[in-house]
Amino acid sequence: MLLIETETLRPGLEAAAPVFDPARPWLKLVLTGAVLDERAIRLLRRRGVTMMWVRWAGLEFLDGLVNTKLTELRLNLYTQLKRDFKPNQAKAVSVTQYVRYCNLVDGLIIELLSSANNGLGAQTADLFDKQPGLFSHSANVAYLALTLGLRLETYIMHERRHAGANYTRDFTNLGIGAVFHDIGKLTLPSTQAIHEPLAEPPTHEYARHPQSGYEMIPERISALARAAVLHHHQRFDGAGFPNMQTITGKSHLKPLAGRDIHIFPRIVAVCDVFDHLCHDDDGGPRPAVAALHDLANGNLTGRFDPVILDGLLRYVPPFPIGSRVTLSDGRPAAIIALNSRQPCQPVVRLLRLTKRSQQNIDLAKRAGLHISEILGVNVDSCLYTLPSAELCQAR
Ligand SMILES: [Fe+2]
Ligand SMILES: [Fe+2]
Repeated sequence: MLLIETETLRPGLEAAAPVFDPARPWLKLVLTGAVLDERAIRLLRRRGVTMMWVRWAGLEFLDGLVNTKLTELRLNLYTQLKRDFKPNQAKAVSVTQYVRYCNLVDGLIIELLSSANNGLGAQTADLFDKQPGLFSHSANVAYLALTLGLRLETYIMHERRHAGANYTRDFTNLGIGAVFHDIGKLTLPSTQAIHEPLAEPPTHEYARHPQSGYEMIPERISALARAAVLHHHQRFDGAGFPNMQTITGKSHLKPLAGRDIHIFPRIVAVCDVFDHLCHDDDGGPRPAVAALHDLANGNLTGRFDPVILDGLLRYVPPFPIGSRVTLSDGRPAAIIALNSRQPCQPVVRLLRLTKRSQQNIDLAKRAGLHISEILGVNVDSCLYTLPSAELCQAR
């Protein structure tokens, strides 16, 4: 299977996964196995579908690596949030809702665990619904936090070593905290931005949303999920918010810093900003590689736990498996294997060759050749390199 932009679809191609309506994501526009005709292609373009999975000769082996079910589970989360919460009406998360979201989150965890290599689920980062909107953002952050959490299990268990053996592996409340991390924004006027401004301090009103969200989740539901909501804007360097004074009423307390911040909000914080960077200033989509480039170049580093940031940069691929790219020499190719040491240098298979003359290129071994375009967007200025893992450990 191959992920291609709808602009390049042609009649006769067969859908390798269902295509959902971006405006009403519970509706399937195309079913798996449907053969596209001119009418279907026109419909997809009219509805604003930008890309889809198609069957592709020579890439059948990718079917076992790409888990399109994860995209559906993320959509379920999104549609449930849209049904349950309305701006200025939502007062609190009920126990019934909490149980419902636990089931949805557990479904995602089980699917991630049964996917090839667990965290390969992150390969679909570019498939997310990048519509601007609070619930789309919440569903993306939950999906990413769980993917990253499963990849960083050893680190999480270490950070939660005092929680007791039965709880250190509990990822459900990481997912719940991520789902509800911005629920307090439902109390903000609609003129407030969805994302924290990264270059200037937040407005007083915006800075209140973590505490508003914390107060919307009753104490008896989950202290862990509440902590993730309350502290997802705490920064590792101590320059985040809210001040602990606002929670405890004591006057001398500052924001939390470093490992005093629970591991769950530390994970949510990284995924939150990553999803933010997957949109431009007008809310339009940016490729994952552009967002990862911004995180890798160091300007935002002080905000995050370095272990978690490194995990995101290594395990959320800038070029997802199965996506069509154009190489710097103009040849079209498909991503067939990831490279967690240098994610911008995966293994690709050239397209437009006959089955007999398949040619794979390991970009890590081909100096001078790089990915220039993904899904029709030029990314020459977004490529980044990571320090070696050994260097990171030595820091
Ligand atoms: Fe937030
Ligand atoms: Fe957020």
